Amino acid sequence: MTKSALSPRPLDLVRYQNNSKPGLFSPLNAPMTDWQGRSVWLVGASSGIGEATASALHARGARVVVSARSAPALARFTDAHPGAVALPLDVTQTDAVLAAAQTVIADAGLDCVVYCAGHYREQRAMQFDLAEMLRHNEVNYVGALHVLDAVLPHLLRQGGGHISLIGSVAGYSGLPQGLAYGPTKAALINLAETLYTDLRPAGIGVSLINPGFVETPLTARNRFHMPALISPQQAAQEILTGWARGHFEIHFPRRFTRWMKALRLMPYRLLFPAIRKFTGL
Ligand SMILES: NC(=O)c1ccc[n+]([C@@H]2O[C@H](COP(=O)([O-])OP(=O)(O)OC[C@H]3O[C@@H](n4cnc5c(N)ncnc54)[C@H](OP(=O)(O)O)[C@@H]3O)[C@@H](O)[C@H]2O)c1
Repeated sequence: MTKSALSPRPLDLVRYQNNSKPGLFSPLNAPMTDWQGRSVWLVGASSGIGEATASALHARGARVVVSARSAPALARFTDAHPGAVALPLDVTQTDAVLAAAQTVIADAGLDCVVYCAGHYREQRAMQFDLAEMLRHNEVNYVGALHVLDAVLPHLLRQGGGHISLIGSVAGYSGLPQGLAYGPTKAALINLAETLYTDLRPAGIGVSLINPGFVETPLTARNRFHMPALISPQQAAQEILTGWARGHFEIHFPRRFTRWMKALRLMPYRLLFPAIRKFTGL
């Protein structure tokens, strides 16, 4: 077994003791504050939130491995971040994901994996496009399964580490134009909840990142006003703060996500008219 860089730390911030029982108000995950020397693999980090988070982690001393399809973009990242490693891959290719995971683990072990890969095209039922529906599923959801398949055996043997999945507030409830995207994010939310339940006793942390609107290539085609829009750097800061506080769900910006959470709690009789009122669709 490859020893993870986190194993020898006396005060292990990534790993929960198997028998620890958190109280009602204690953090759901072990707070992650000390990134020095941690091995973090970010999948979907050639741009946007993944890239900004990789950069923020690198600045805190983490050994960052970045993956995505665009090798030139990843090379620009490693040029600008000495010590960072690029492993280009397509998350829809099982073997490529497995090979990259094996490289990450063999090189420096794995403390934390962050699934940031995402695909988004607006779609409504009147223009149902099966190919796009399946594409969203392959990148946003099945790609995450490929990564889990590749890292879970190692993390379970290690008895520690952390898995973070980027979902979206679009997964809270069905929204107009989210026909292809929303269901994949709802699936990721459910996946993260179930992973947490299963992996917490094994000492492995799981967090779910649900951003509101962030200014990235993914949202650049949106023609509507994006309320409470933040930069990828602000998103990265929110993510690091959420990890440091040991949150399970890291959602931001709260001035927007609070409203999305309130919508989710509404009975459908009130929810559907509210969505129509806010979106005009
Ligand atoms: N921006 C927002 O407002 C917002 C809100 C909520 C949730 N999110 C989520 O946040 C995550 C990051 O998105 P972002 O906004 O930062 O957009 P982004 O800049 O477009 O980042 C998406 C990343 O996914 C990678 N990717 C896409 N398809 C891939 C594939 N087949 N294989 C490997 N990598 C792939 C892209 O790289 P390549 O193209 O080089 O492969 C890129 O690095 C996504 O899960 C997104 O759904 C974003």
